[in-house]
Amino acid sequence: MTQTDNAGRLIWLTGPSGAGKSTIAKALRGRIADSGRRVEILDGDEIREVISPELGFSKEDRNIQIDRIGYIASLLTRNGVDVIVSAISPYRQSRDRAISRSSRSFEILVSAPLEVLIDRDTKGLYGKAIRGEITGLTGYDDPYEEPIGSHLRVDSHRLSLDEAVLLIEEFLTLEVANA
Ligand code: ADX
Repeated sequence: MTQTDNAGRLIWLTGPSGAGKSTIAKALRGRIADSGRRVEILDGDEIREVISPELGFSKEDRNIQIDRIGYIASLLTRNGVDVIVSAISPYRQSRDRAISRSSRSFEILVSAPLEVLIDRDTKGLYGKAIRGEITGLTGYDDPYEEPIGSHLRVDSHRLSLDEAVLLIEEFLTLEVANA
């Protein structure tokens, strides 16, 4: 068996804040763990707290953050662990580079219209952006570059959590390799 045969899967959830990446990641982790596989979540907020406390939200800083996540993910996947990344990862070039570090990778856009994100405002960030208290919020006044290669799109406002997870599980069975 080659190393690739033993590799874990990289499941990269990208999309704006509040679209549902973290919620989907946790539910998916449960399903994968139940199937007997080793699985970890790399969450943007958590990585920022532990590994990237010096980084802000400029394009350069976000790209460094994504490079770090891609590297950590590659260490895990090459040792057979499935990795679910939950990070906005707004820039296509750094996201592609990070994803391509793992040999069995899947890119999933978790999306919802801006009106829905503003309405949900789970972290209060959209309210702050609207009131002018913060700038550079992805999808509001900062860019988000959607995937263009082989990927799955999950519209979280149209699907229940169970439906979203099921859709992703089906996508994973197709083994669409991005690397
Ligand atoms: S990324 O753009 O560098 O990939 P990442 O997923 O690590 O972002 O972190 C995003 C999290 O940072 C959001 O979930 C939110 O909690 C917080 N955050 C604070 N300010 C911003 C901002 N201006 N844009 C996006 N996220 C922000």
